[in-house]
Amino acid sequence: MRTLKNILVTGGCGFIGVNFIRRLFKHTPEFTGRIINLDALTYAGNITSLQEIEKEFGIDSKPESRYFFELGDICDRQGLETIFAKYNIDTVVNFAAESHVDRSILGPETFVKTNVMGTFALLDVARRRWQISTGDPTQPLPVSADAEYTPGVIFHHVSTDEVYGSLGESGFFTETSPYEPRSPYSASKAASDHLVMAWHHTYGLPVTLSNCSNNFGPFQFPEKLIPLMIINMLEGKPLPVYGDGKNIRDWLYVDDHTRAIWTILSKGRTGEKYNIGGENERENIAIIDELIEIVAEKINGEPQKIRGTIQFVKDRPGHDRRYAIDCAKIKEELGWQRETPFEEGLAKTVEWYMANTTWINRIRSGEYRYWVEENYGRR
Ligand code: NAD
Ligand code: TYD
Repeated sequence: MRTLKNILVTGGCGFIGVNFIRRLFKHTPEFTGRIINLDALTYAGNITSLQEIEKEFGIDSKPESRYFFELGDICDRQGLETIFAKYNIDTVVNFAAESHVDRSILGPETFVKTNVMGTFALLDVARRRWQISTGDPTQPLPVSADAEYTPGVIFHHVSTDEVYGSLGESGFFTETSPYEPRSPYSASKAASDHLVMAWHHTYGLPVTLSNCSNNFGPFQFPEKLIPLMIINMLEGKPLPVYGDGKNIRDWLYVDDHTRAIWTILSKGRTGEKYNIGGENERENIAIIDELIEIVAEKINGEPQKIRGTIQFVKDRPGHDRRYAIDCAKIKEELGWQRETPFEEGLAKTVEWYMANTTWINRIRSGEYRYWVEENYGRR
């Protein structure tokens, strides 16, 4: 078991990052270290999602603070150097990314910048800070796949099953499936995965990598299928279904993903990649149907009436047909398995969005940025 002391979480104000940080502080008693959350606060990052954590474990609980926020970009190498030195970082969990396929089709450049160049900057700085050099510190570090690193350090990269491309009616993605990304988003994530593995094979950097299927749950930006549909149903807006609605994704409740990441960080083998999935394939239209039933029951509405707001719209260009994950490796090797049944996760997610309209309005309007300006200075 690794003991993680100073974890640099990048993108900790996004959907999965927020859930990960909350899990570590609230539901992981064996975690006694510190978290340094580095986030650029793009449209997808919301610092107020962690207000409760900040109050309990952050600035207000000085001097024993265990949570720190740093506003910054993972592409800024100088900024990364400063953070590594300031907090004596021994662990990186890289969530920071541009994550929405539709946005990547319309504007791919920021995907290449953050997902590819940002991961490169993080890897390079981690290597420079962690590789033990017995030579002259003014000279370049010796290059060796057997290079020595500070004991216990680990670089975990969070990635997606979309790097494997699109499946036909049968088959599953395994850790050895070839990479065949088809959208600008998945191509940029595939490139970042390759860089992570290259830093391990060429420079000996201790890394782990995970490829997870579609997540859902609290704090997800309402541009992704499940939160978008829930909010549109609650607001009586149309439900846009791409193509014939029969594209298939494998879905996992976000808590199960964050627990898998913690499991890999604690005991995953360095240089290994692990697939994470819910073994839970659904057609998009079937999910929308389930959501309609749940929402109708909760608002005392007519499922048929909500169903009438479904609009089949033009398909996404290059829309991957089916994703399905074989996650036998993490189950057998590390003892992780999914805990939240899909229906239970969906119901909890609907309840969360119904109870958190302030969060929804803030993230949609960008209002939380005033809070950032007050607390962290004008940007
Ligand atoms: P998200 O879009 O909700 O959040 C991304 C976060 O990264 C935001 O807080 C944003 O402000 C921050 N960020 C963006 N660019 C940055 C930069 N240059 N420097 C610093 N911070 C920056 O994403 P998410 O859904 O939480 O996904 C997190 C990670 O998990 C991503 O790497 C994604 O590829 C991966 N992933 C997501 C899913 C999913 O279903 N959401 C599934 C598998 C893997
Ligand atoms: P999304 O949540 O964007 O995740 P990803 O594309 O990364 O899998 O979309 C999930 C599925 O839902 C995908 O097949 C596209 C489809 N979709 C719609 O049909 N309508 C929508 O409004 C959205 C956002 C997605």
